[in-house]
Order: sequence, then C-alpha cells, then structure tokens
Amino acid sequence: MAKVVLATTPAPLRTLDVGCGTGALLRLLAARLPGAVELVGVDAARGMVAAGRSLPDLDPRIQFIQATAERLPFREASFDLVVSTTSFDHWADQLQGLKECARMLRDDGRLVLADLFGDWLAPTTVLGRRGRTRTTRQASRLLIAAGFRDLRWQRLYNLGPLPLVQAVIAAR
Ligand SMILES: C[S@@+](CC[C@H](N)C(=O)[O-])C[C@H]1O[C@@H](n2cnc3c(N)ncnc32)[C@H](O)[C@@H]1O
Repeated sequence: MAKVVLATTPAPLRTLDVGCGTGALLRLLAARLPGAVELVGVDAARGMVAAGRSLPDLDPRIQFIQATAERLPFREASFDLVVSTTSFDHWADQLQGLKECARMLRDDGRLVLADLFGDWLAPTTVLGRRGRTRTTRQASRLLIAAGFRDLRWQRLYNLGPLPLVQAVIAAR
C-alpha cells in the first residue's frame, strides 16, 4: 500500500488516513516523506487512537484523532492525499464516507483506497455485509457519485488467481 501511495503522490505535504488503526501506514509514509508537514490518522475506535498515540518514538508530524469517515472534522481541501486501508468495508455509510474523503481533498489531490474487492466476493455482501460494496464496479459507482474521477484499480494481494485486496486510485 505504501508503494502504491508513494507512486501515486510522491511528495504529499498533508496526508489523511481514514480508519488508520494504530497508524502503521502513516508511520511507513512518515519515514519515507521527509518533506511532509503532517500525517493525520482518524479512527472511529477510541482504543486504536489511544494505542497509536502511545507508540514509542512517534514521528511528531503524525497525529491521531477519533472521528468517523462519515463525519471528518477538518475544513474542506485540507489534504493533498487521503488514504484508507481495509477500513471502507466497515463504514456504516460508504457513500457519505467517500463524499467526506472528496471534501477533504484539494483540487489536485488523490485518494488511495484499499480493501477487499473482487467480483467473486459479491455473494458475501448478501448476508453478512448487506448494503456494503465489495466489487470494483459497485465501488466505482460510489466513488463517482461521491465526486471522484479517473479511477485506476490495482491489485495488492491475491488469493491464488483471485484478487482479494485491491486499491483504487482516484482524483477529485
Ligand atoms: C481492519 S482495521 C484497519 C486499520 C488500519 N487501516 C490498518 O491497515 O492497519 C479497520 C479500522 O477501521 C476503523 N473504522 C471502522 N469504521 C470506521 C468509520 N466509520 N470511520 C473511521 N474508522 C472506522 C476501525 O476502528 C479499525 O481501526
């Protein structure tokens, strides 16, 4: 994910990670981005935010804030890069979360969103994950409805021949 992110946006000044957990991706990015000004992680879970904040030797440019994707507590156009890894599948309102990601981005900003995506996963949304998106077609429709364009899909992790984790790179 870090490689895809850096290939997409090699020198972001302000990065937001939505559903950041304890900030593993933010720490990797911070180590590779000496020119970055801030790397902000939001997560819905208080425990994740607390665990992230308490990690030793945390880069001072990394901040953690407890918030949800559906209601991001920042002014519009605050970031030039928004990333999210295996969190989208948990969002209660995926369209609203994507709209918030779009609102966060500057005009030339990019979203890199990675999660479980694959047509073969469609049946898994019928019972346990009703209403959630797990195919690239459904997710592309939501992204466009949220204001994104120029979508580019990239496989990150396969299960044999089947795509399991894919990233979509999108412009605002
Ligand atoms: C599987 S973890 C991934 C964490 C991290 N991105 C990583 O790759 O290590 C999913 C995270 O999404 C967070 N989450 C779930 N729903 C959320 C929402 N609506 N808004 C923000 N974060 C959410 C969870 O609290 C959890 O930390």
